[in-house]
Amino acid sequence: MGADKEKRVAAARAVGLIEAGMTIGLGTGSTAAHAIRLIGARVREGMALRGVPTSEQSAALARAEGIPLVDLNEVERVHLAIDGADEVDGGKRCIKGGGGALLREKIVACAADRLVVIVDSGKTVECLGAFPLPVEAIPFAREQVRRRIEALGASAALRTDSAGPFITDEGNHILDCRFGRIDDVSGLAAQLSAIPGIVEHGLFIGMADDVIVGRGGTACFME
Ligand code: 5RP
Repeated sequence: MGADKEKRVAAARAVGLIEAGMTIGLGTGSTAAHAIRLIGARVREGMALRGVPTSEQSAALARAEGIPLVDLNEVERVHLAIDGADEVDGGKRCIKGGGGALLREKIVACAADRLVVIVDSGKTVECLGAFPLPVEAIPFAREQVRRRIEALGASAALRTDSAGPFITDEGNHILDCRFGRIDDVSGLAAQLSAIPGIVEHGLFIGMADDVIVGRGGTACFME
C-alpha cells in the first residue's frame, strides 16, 4: 500500500472529526492537502465551516476548493487543526517543517483547541532525528545561527530552491539540521529556542492531541 493512500485514509479519519460551525486550522504538505481537499468536499455538500491556513500554498488550495478562509487575527478560537508531520515518536512528539511552514503551523497548532496530526506509517519512529530538523532563522542572523547550531553537534544546511535560499511565508530562511538521534528532545528544543535569530524550530512537543496513522487501507489513532 502506497504512502499516498495511507496519507489519504489518515486525512479522511481526521476530517471525520469536523463538526459544522468549526474553525479549522489547515496544515501544509501533501498529507494536509488531502485533508483540505476532503474539507472542500464537505463545504460543497453544505457544511458551514471556515479555515485558517498555515501557508500561502494551503491558502491557495483551500480557495480553489471553495473553503471560506479567515485570518488568524480575526478568530477567537480555532476548534481543530489538522496537519501532517515529517516524523512522530511514541510520545506524539513531532518533527515538522519539511514543507517550510513550521512557523505558521506551530502558531496555528498552539491556537487550536485540538491538534490532530495525520501521517502515513513511514513517519512513525522510535526516536526523532533521522529526518533533518528544520529551523527557521531570520536572514540577518543566519550564519550566526548556523554556527551555534553546529556547536550543538549538528550539521546545518541552508535550504535552497531554484531561485536561491528558500524563503518562508514570513520572509525567513530554513536550516535543515542533522543532529542524528535526538535523545533529549525537550533539552534540544530549549537550546534552540535560546539562540537569538531563530524564529522557530520544527520540534513540536506536547502539541499533538491526537496522531492518526494511515497503515495499509486503514487509519488508527496512536495510543
Ligand atoms: C510542512 C510540514 C508538513 O506537514 C510535513 O513536511 C509533512 O509533509 P507531507 O505531508 O508532504 O509528507 O511540516 O511544513
